[in-house]
Amino acid sequence: MCGIVGYIGPRDATAIILNGLKRLEYRGYDSAGLAVIHDGKIDVRRDAGKLSRLVELIESEPISGSPGIGHTRWATHGEPSARNAHPHLGSTGEVVVVHNGIVENYLELKDELSAEGVVFNSDTDTETIVHLVEHYQSTGLDLSDSARKTFTQIQGAHGIVLLSSKEPDKMVCARIGNAGGVVIGLGDGENFIASDIPAILEHTRKVIFLDSRQMAVVTRDNVHIETLEGRPVDPQVHIVSWDPVAAEKGEYRHFMQKEIHEQVRSLTDTLAGRVDFEKGQIRLPELNLTPEFAQRLDRIFITACGTAAHAGMVGKILIEKIARIPCEVQLGSEFRYSDPITNKNSLVLSISQSGETADTLAAMEEGRKKGATLWSVVNAIGSQAMRIADGFISMQAGPEVGVASTKAFTAPLVDLYMLAVLLADMRGVIDNTVRKTLVADLRLVPDLASRALNTEPGVEIVAGRLKDIRDCLYLGRGINMPIAFEGALKLKEISYVHAEGYPAGEMKHGPIALIDKMMPVVCIAPKDPWHDKMISQIQQAKARGGTVIAIATEGDELVGSLADLTLWVPECPWMLSPIVTVIPLQLLAYHIAAMRGLDVDQPRNLAKSVTVE
Ligand code: AGP
Repeated sequence: MCGIVGYIGPRDATAIILNGLKRLEYRGYDSAGLAVIHDGKIDVRRDAGKLSRLVELIESEPISGSPGIGHTRWATHGEPSARNAHPHLGSTGEVVVVHNGIVENYLELKDELSAEGVVFNSDTDTETIVHLVEHYQSTGLDLSDSARKTFTQIQGAHGIVLLSSKEPDKMVCARIGNAGGVVIGLGDGENFIASDIPAILEHTRKVIFLDSRQMAVVTRDNVHIETLEGRPVDPQVHIVSWDPVAAEKGEYRHFMQKEIHEQVRSLTDTLAGRVDFEKGQIRLPELNLTPEFAQRLDRIFITACGTAAHAGMVGKILIEKIARIPCEVQLGSEFRYSDPITNKNSLVLSISQSGETADTLAAMEEGRKKGATLWSVVNAIGSQAMRIADGFISMQAGPEVGVASTKAFTAPLVDLYMLAVLLADMRGVIDNTVRKTLVADLRLVPDLASRALNTEPGVEIVAGRLKDIRDCLYLGRGINMPIAFEGALKLKEISYVHAEGYPAGEMKHGPIALIDKMMPVVCIAPKDPWHDKMISQIQQAKARGGTVIAIATEGDELVGSLADLTLWVPECPWMLSPIVTVIPLQLLAYHIAAMRGLDVDQPRNLAKSVTVE
């Protein structure tokens, strides 16, 4: 969950690393630090709190040098404090480490090292890494061999970068398991290391992704990669197409607001090159889907977490309705423990913005073990979920920085719709007319998103009314039930308001007891096959004194007359309705949080990529 940046080259590493960390702060923001080698010595600055505190510290106590490494932390072991912030120095002051992950056997290692007389200066598990490296250096090994021995001794999943003042011409990094990515950026006479592409995008688009159990020795002019067992690896260089400006806030107050507004573009990009409107056909070549597999596929498990899981719930309805393949959605954190009944005719389809979520990756591993085919729908190019899959759909959402996921929710809705049509076509379960209509409807998507964004002035009025609430219910049915879950998740994670998404039909079985005049009830009631049922639910909420905020289709006078406040969304084919209903809910959560003066992009206790289980 932490952010890592490293630089080696002729320039001063300090500014490069601070800028890179700024773009990674969403990965963790409870403390930050930086280390550089200067005149043969390691200099460290670190502090608790956000990156701005580190910047102030460096302004008052400047450092400069190269190579350098930096880190933003999401605490797992040890409270967020200056002493627990990374980078961590060893006892000699000649080795320094930044780390993402958990050293699962750190207590055991700490006992062994302490017995040898090592004194620990933090409460972190990370510190064991640097002491182990020093231990091996003291036996005469160089930095890379000491690092390798250390990497094979620590248990768990990790992204690690090390520097040593004894060998100031190199950085050593490794990726072990699923603690998040390690990407090496290739420059001209300089090289970079990062946990995520946006950190280095302004310097280079040429990148190499480390696979699990690979380590690299990075100098100014060279990158040498090998496995932890010492086998040399011939790396594949990827060219990243993301625009560095896409990772900037621009005219917007927060990344989240910018990303909500980017959905017209991200959905246009999602369709680009995949939809042949003339022939009414879908192309998803990176899935490597064969007609033979489409025919024998008898069960799909969608695995994902949080917002991505809500996208999966919509996907299940689309796949079952259009392609008629049984599909179930399992949370990444549960799948592995559910002893899933899979075989070679099953598909495990993971959805992930980061492609690095530990629970989702663990679910994929479980699917692999049980003989299923693995596909992923993923945003971060080159991420683990993309690389370990047999086929993938790349979301085309571009960098998403706000911790609350928005454009990486709507992109997979369209991806899964396209997938459902493609599978249905290959299995022969839809005729040409149905297929062509379903494909033609996709043409509407960017305009629908744009018109849903027009709800913003109305959303601001509703947000003004709701900004001081303590609880909120979100109700939906059918394809819009997951949108109720998603609307509630958005509100709770950035505004800290207790919010619950509920299948509207279940209200009468208990939760309706919660409704009184203090309880706002957001009812998602567009013109879809569940519309009439939602009308009854709105009436039931009104009868108990609840304040109803409806998401309704333009011109739906009945819903308009029943609700206290209505946000109007454009009419559209019901299978695309989640795109238009979720956008006002994203905006509502955003404006409530902004009116409450909260840190929208970096809500408390959260991080963008959840690389711990
Ligand atoms: C979304 O707003 C959340 N912050 C979170 O639920 C997120 O969707 C989840 O952690 C999964 O992340 P992923 O898409 O990167 O796998």
